[in-house]
Amino acid sequence: MAAWRQCGPWRAAALALPLVLLLAAPRAAAADRPPRRKLQPRSGPSPLPIEARGLAARDVGAAELAEGAREWEGGAAVARRRFGGAVLAYVTPWHRQGYGWAVRFRGKLTHVSPVWYQLRTDGEGQLALVGGHEHNATWLRELREPTEGGGCGGGGAAVGSAEGGSGDAEGRAAGSSGSAESGGDESGGSSGGGGSGDAGHTCSAGGARKPPPRVLPRVVIELGGRELLLLLERPGPAIERLAEEAERRGYDGFVLDAWQAWAAMGAFREGGFGPAAVGFARALAAALRRGGRGLVLAVPPALPAAAGRPHSDVGLLAGLGGEVEGFSVMTYDHLAAIPGPNAPLPWMEANLKLLLEGGGGSGGSGGGGGGKGSSGGGPALEPGSVLLGLNFYGYEFSRPDDGAPAAAAAAGAARWSFDAVVAERFLSALARLQPALAWDGEAGEHYAKFKEGGKRRRIYFPTPASLAARVALAREWGVGLSIWELGQGMEAFFDLL
Ligand SMILES: *[C@@H]1O[C@H](CO)[C@@H](O)[C@H](O)[C@H]1NC(C)=O
Repeated sequence: MAAWRQCGPWRAAALALPLVLLLAAPRAAAADRPPRRKLQPRSGPSPLPIEARGLAARDVGAAELAEGAREWEGGAAVARRRFGGAVLAYVTPWHRQGYGWAVRFRGKLTHVSPVWYQLRTDGEGQLALVGGHEHNATWLRELREPTEGGGCGGGGAAVGSAEGGSGDAEGRAAGSSGSAESGGDESGGSSGGGGSGDAGHTCSAGGARKPPPRVLPRVVIELGGRELLLLLERPGPAIERLAEEAERRGYDGFVLDAWQAWAAMGAFREGGFGPAAVGFARALAAALRRGGRGLVLAVPPALPAAAGRPHSDVGLLAGLGGEVEGFSVMTYDHLAAIPGPNAPLPWMEANLKLLLEGGGGSGGSGGGGGGKGSSGGGPALEPGSVLLGLNFYGYEFSRPDDGAPAAAAAAGAARWSFDAVVAERFLSALARLQPALAWDGEAGEHYAKFKEGGKRRRIYFPTPASLAARVALAREWGVGLSIWELGQGMEAFFDLL
């Protein structure tokens, strides 16, 4: 624990050395980063908005962030929306704290998508919808409990502090992965009623009860080759199965996550595939709509990070315009440079431009009126249907620390390896090592640079400042947000939603 203690024995040893060394050694080390201090991490509700806590600043320090990341503004602010557009949040069984956060911060979410289902073929070659064992009726009920107060509006005013004992309401079910349906209650409380989907981009008037978030579990299609062609030729059975499951479990619809995989396998290059895929999505949306439910389509970015990476054909998506509840656009995993940012801001904006102005024209929005869009060429999406993807995870890059100078490091770029990391890893590195936290002004992301375990490391991770910049971008273009995924981030993020 407390890495700062490590300087104790070192200092004692240094005292025995000649004065020259005593002066030289610690100075050189100190030049790298601000001095470490003993941290006092806080967690739980705070009476102060995130701005007053200093956490959303671009020049936030590693120590400050490590201490404050697990705090959120409590009281009425827990349910108050700052962002007026739709906010879809994915939650997964492998980062289960996301379930608790979805419940606590449900007043800030319009859609919750538990990552539960796969459509595949079973041992006998029959189509099967797998994942229903993850369904948790208790959790769904909690998620749909009303919250007080609507409205968003900025100011911190009404700060109450009665965040009655929610501190441990989290059900930190560590280790239990999957399994165990709880109780037989299936009705779930969603009576359909349809249409509350695109919850508007203007904040609802304060005081009113907000509708609970719509629950649309994610389903991926794990079929390829002949099986996939068969699905698209004869979509009936799969669609029936999905509509049935939604009805039985009381879901508000599904998020269909297939486009990315289909794009990655090059399927859209076959002339007939795109229209067939659109036909499938359209038929599924129609079937769900008959029960008052909706379909959100998860899709790769329109502008790929590099040639050959999966991307969405905006024209195809536009053909689904009025029929799906939204497009959850995966604007992350950009990684054009290794190491480099996960989701550079200019790339995200270029995606919005392509999606909202169409790919055909030369852009040049020019016009000064509120809300962008409408000037490019070719088919485009309605801003209200676009959910800009936000990563709540980061990447850690590492390479052997062989003392090679910076110039040689470029040649050694291939030796960088990288892994996706969650907030816990980032924050613990910040707390232990307290490295300098650098702001990449071009990408609009923070990163930390340090050495550990014989390696040079760099972690790009979202921070309140980077998130604030992306929320501002979404607001500017009038689109919503989709978050991958809740359990990987930090509590402080919710203050910005
Ligand atoms: C179901 O949800 C409840 C409420 O969030 C939680 O306490 C419980 O641990 C969950 N059950 C499983 C098996 O995950």
